[in-house]
Formats: sequence, structure tokens, C-alpha cells
Amino acid sequence: MVTSADTEFEIKRLREEIDKHNYLYHHQDAPEITDVEFDVLFRNLQRLELEHPEFLASDSPTQRVGSPPLKSHAKIIHEVPMLSLDNAFSEQDLADFEARVLARLKTSDIIRYCCEPKIDGVAISLIYEEGKLVCGATRGDGTTGEDVTQNVRTIDTVPLCLDGTGYPELLEVRGEIYFPRSAFKAVNQLSIGRGERPFANPRNAAAGSLRQLDSRLTAKRKLSMFCYSVVQAKGGHLPDKQSEILLKLETWGLPINPLIEVRQGVKNCIEFFGKLLSRREYLDYDIDGVVFKVDSLDFQERLGVLTRTPRWAIAHKFPPEKGVSVVKNVEFQVGRTGALTPVARLEPVKIGGVTVSNVTLHNMQEIERLGLMIGDSVLINRAGDVIPKVISVIAKKRPGNAKRIELPNTCPSCGSTITNNEAVAKCISGRDCPGRLRENIRHFASRSAMDIDGLGEKIIDQLIAASLVNSPADLYKLSREQFIQLDRLGPKSADNLIAALEKSKKTTLAKFIYALGIEEVGEYTSVVLARSFFGLNLLFEATISNLMSVPDIGLIVAQKIYEFLRVEKNQSLINELISLGIHWDIEEPPEVKQVLRGEVWVLTGTLSTLTRNDAKVRLQALGAKVSGSVSSKTDCVVAGDASGSKLIKAKALNIRIIYEAELLKLLEQRNV
Ligand code: IVH
Repeated sequence: MVTSADTEFEIKRLREEIDKHNYLYHHQDAPEITDVEFDVLFRNLQRLELEHPEFLASDSPTQRVGSPPLKSHAKIIHEVPMLSLDNAFSEQDLADFEARVLARLKTSDIIRYCCEPKIDGVAISLIYEEGKLVCGATRGDGTTGEDVTQNVRTIDTVPLCLDGTGYPELLEVRGEIYFPRSAFKAVNQLSIGRGERPFANPRNAAAGSLRQLDSRLTAKRKLSMFCYSVVQAKGGHLPDKQSEILLKLETWGLPINPLIEVRQGVKNCIEFFGKLLSRREYLDYDIDGVVFKVDSLDFQERLGVLTRTPRWAIAHKFPPEKGVSVVKNVEFQVGRTGALTPVARLEPVKIGGVTVSNVTLHNMQEIERLGLMIGDSVLINRAGDVIPKVISVIAKKRPGNAKRIELPNTCPSCGSTITNNEAVAKCISGRDCPGRLRENIRHFASRSAMDIDGLGEKIIDQLIAASLVNSPADLYKLSREQFIQLDRLGPKSADNLIAALEKSKKTTLAKFIYALGIEEVGEYTSVVLARSFFGLNLLFEATISNLMSVPDIGLIVAQKIYEFLRVEKNQSLINELISLGIHWDIEEPPEVKQVLRGEVWVLTGTLSTLTRNDAKVRLQALGAKVSGSVSSKTDCVVAGDASGSKLIKAKALNIRIIYEAELLKLLEQRNV
């Protein structure tokens, strides 16, 4: 039987545990459990407190948000507390939310919701007096935050002065500071290059950067922001709907997320959730769900707030992107360049709807940085860039028999010696190593390269084991009979493979360059090379400085391409492939396609499916001049996410504005 003392003890234990994890998450940026595990603890405590109100205490974590502010920054008391949001994890949770809203409003009318992405960053409060930014403060415990005004001032997308007219004398807006994924990748690459510890994820990087005591350091990090609400507006008038307030903020130059939509009823909100879930990986910022807010401020007021959450809003969280698993073993794989990569074999774990059982550990330095041993429990993330990675080792869960991970002395594929130069362990047998050959063939046949449909890993392994394939060119010499001899490959599949090989012979120069597997030459660089050299001969003739004049190609990449084309074996492979029938259409000379010649285009905001530089190069290929600022000479503005003053200026000057989808259509139609 559960006694009252047991319940009291359990409540106390849960509070202590939640407080500890809150501290680790908010102050140490070193979580020990996943968000889902945290939510489970939190919900258990909420449930127990609800069932046993006699044990409710004002210092329970359910009654406040986050942790106390750091000692180092000045304190700011929030006049309006910074609230948190109640979470929904299922459609049922949402239906319950809507039922509560309708019951409180005593209505059966369809409710309008402002649907917003839930940005996974750090909450911020900004105060503008007479249009000037006077204060930026973090949430802290919801009542008292930290004064980070100097740091906030360094963020490009945060206006120091509001644009336009009609803003209130005092305006307090709330929003989220985030670290764009592209900038995050660049910062982490730099840290790794310097041998420093990289940030675990963009949210931690944003939190760490915003809390810097030296704002010059914050300025170096390319932080950004989206505003999501107004909590104070004195001496001025604001619309009476959340969605319209956000539009108003945009006219004053405050950054608003471009994916926000108004939907009628919770059913339509669910559709918005699905839409954002599918777009999530293409965005340049992390989102961990969506927020549905009753759009009418009058309704919001009537619904009111609880201690830590409003009754008029709910966050619908995405399925978790983090999970905990156990490293059962670490194996070393030979890559295309002969480099040995450690791969952790995991106890399979479902993360964000996908089962993860292997995760690359990159190199021995990464293993050392993580302090990883075989048998360890690890926190795994597969956010954003989809490739799962180990974030940290859960030291407390290390078993007594955990094993050290050692670099093998010989190649696991061919038994040759391993060299360990410049911190990269490599098999010395070069292209003859079957492991390396396998990766080369896999790359060659992959969809973005020669796109040989049906030529999977198992078939490649057999072809190599039977010595039928020693180079990519050998694939095109295989007969139907040789395919039929392979294990579990019937005549039909053999015919399909022969047909797929034949089909793959007609390709593009970009795909062919990519298929060659030149180090540092990815898909994008291959496209740029093909576009700049219009034929293999010109590429063969190119000097290192010719190559460097191509946008986005630096010295290292230019050297790799130059050297690759000077190796006799590579030259004969290329010639052999061409004599076996691989061909492509010669690209049209650029003049024919330069439909934007003489036009001035401006890119603003963040594009979600291509980098700004990529968009610039491609517009230039169509003949446009791409300028950094909007003026009466501008012909067209491409507005991405968080477009600010440039977009407003373009609107004022009546300049043509297009959005990302239109840009993509244009580029696609023109084949650039
Ligand atoms: S509204 C009273 N809208 O999520 C409502 N919050 O878990 C306050 N967040 O503290 C929040 N995107 O830091 C709101 N579009 C959005 C948001 C958002 C991210 C954060 C915010 C808040 C936390 C709640």
C-alpha cells in the first residue's frame, strides 16, 4: 500500500531530480537526460501534486521556470513574468487543450489560432523606449533574469532603433535568440580545428554566446532572433490579434518568423504541425515543435494564465531527436580515401521515428574528446543534418567491464599496415585495399553520382570478393551471366542491373566529376566546376589559379583537383569510362541563358534550402548583378526567413519581391 509518507517522499525526490537536471541544462549546458525523459519526470511530479495538493509547495519546479540567474550579470526584474508553455505530445493532448479553451470561453465557435514554429533557442526580453533598444534580458527564473543588453546589441537582426512610425513609447517584446545552423557548423569547425571542445548543439551555443561577459565575443558569433510576442505597449496602440501584432512588429524592423500562419480550429493546426515537421530539416535554425496561440487577445485575456503557463497557448512538441543507447562495439571502416573511421555499433534506439544502430565517431580524437569506452551509455542526437552523432557519454552509467577503444595495427579490410599521419589513420595499401575499393564503388554508383539503380552494398561486396570488379570501369564490363552467378540474384535482377548500367552511361558532367570521388569535391563543387569549365578538356588544362577563380573553390580544394587529374591511374580511369560509353551533353554557353542580364537583385534573410552564396552564384549565372543593398536601381528582392529592413525598404520603393519557392522555380526552369 502506498502511504502518504511514500507520496511525500516521491514528490521530494522528483523535485530534487528535476532541479538538478534544470541546473545541468540551463547552467552547465550539459544535460544528462533527454528532453523526453525530463518531460516524463515533470509530468509525474505535476500529476502527483495535482492528486495531493497538500504537498504542493511554492518552490516546486512546477511552479517556476528554469533556474536562478547566473551571478555574473546584473539582475533584471521582469515586470511581466516570462512564462513557459504547456506541452502537447499527441493529437489527444491537443483535443483536450481545445476542449478546455472552448469550455472556459463558453463557446462552440471555431477558434482562430496563430500557429508558430517553436524555436529551439534562448528566450529573450527586449525593451524599446521611444523606439530605442534600452534593455535585453534573459528569462532566468521567469521573474528575475540577467541583463545581457550589451550582448544583444551585437546581434545583427535585433534593431537598435525601430523603423517606421507609430510604435508605442514603451514596447517590451519577447522572442528567441538562436544560432543559425550554418553559423553553428562554421564555429564548431573552427573550434575543432583549434583543438577546442565544440558546442553540443546550436541551442547551447546560443546560450553560451549570449551569456558571455565580454560582448566582443558574442559579436563574433552570428546569433539571430525571432520575436514572438508583445507583453507591454505603453503610449501606443496595437492590433487586437496575435498574428496582426507580429505583422506590426515586422513593419518596425523586428524579425518575425516567416512560417507563421493563422489556422481555424485545432484540426487545421495539426496539419500545420505536419507541414513544419517535414520542412524542419531544411531550415537554417532548430525548431523543437510548434506553438498554437489563441489569436484573439480578448480571448487570451478571458482565458488567463496559470502559475507558469498561459491557458491560451500550447506547444506541440516534435518527436524526440535525442536518445540514449549503449555502445556494444566499435569497428573501424576503411573509407574512400583509405582513412580508417571508427563506427560505434549501438543497441538499436528509435530517435525521431528512425532506428539508429550505428553512429560514426569520425576519428580517434573524437573518441578521446568524448572519453568514450565500449559498454558506455551515450546520448545520441540526430537533429537537423540527419546524420546521428554521439553528444556525450553518460559517465555515471559506465559498467565495470567497459573496454578501451584501440586503433587497430592493421587494416581491418586487407591486413596492411596503418599509418597515422596528421592525426588521420590510413591503410597504406592505397586503392588496392578492398575496403577502400568498396567505398569508391558505392560512391560511384550512388544516386548523386552515376545513379546505378539497384547496385547495392551486398552486390558490390560480392563483385569485389569474386575479383570481378577492381575499378569503377569494370562495372560496365560485367555480363548478364556474371551477375546471375552472384548469390541470390535471379535473371530478372541481372537484366535490371544491366539496364541500369546502360542507363547510367548518359549523365551530366557535374555528376561524372562527383562520381570520380576527388577528395574535398562534393556535389556542389562538382556543379560549380562543370558550370565553369564546360567540358573535361578545359578542366584538365586548368591551373591551380584557374581553379581558384571559380566561386567557392579555395587553395586546398584547387590543389586536390589539380593533383587528382595529374595521377596517371586517374587519367586512364577517366579515359576508360568514356571509351565504355559514358557521355553527357555539352552545356550551353552561358550567354544563351542569361535572362537576368542587366538586372540588379538583392538577397535578404535566410533561405532554407540553399545558402546565400549558392543563390548568389546561380543568379549571377543567369546574368544578374547581386547587390548587398536595396535602392531604386534594384529590380528584384529575394526575401528569405527573417528578412528585415531590406524587405521593408523594397516594399516602400515598390520593388518586385519574390520568395524562396519562386526563386527555386526560376533556377530550376533555367537549369542553373
Ligand atoms: S510563446 C506565454 N512562442 O519556448 C508564452 N514561445 O517552452 C510564452 N519559444 O519560453 C512563450 N518559440 O522561450 C512562444 N513561437 C514561440 C516560441 C516560444 C520558442 C520558447 C520560449 C518559451 C519556451 C516555452
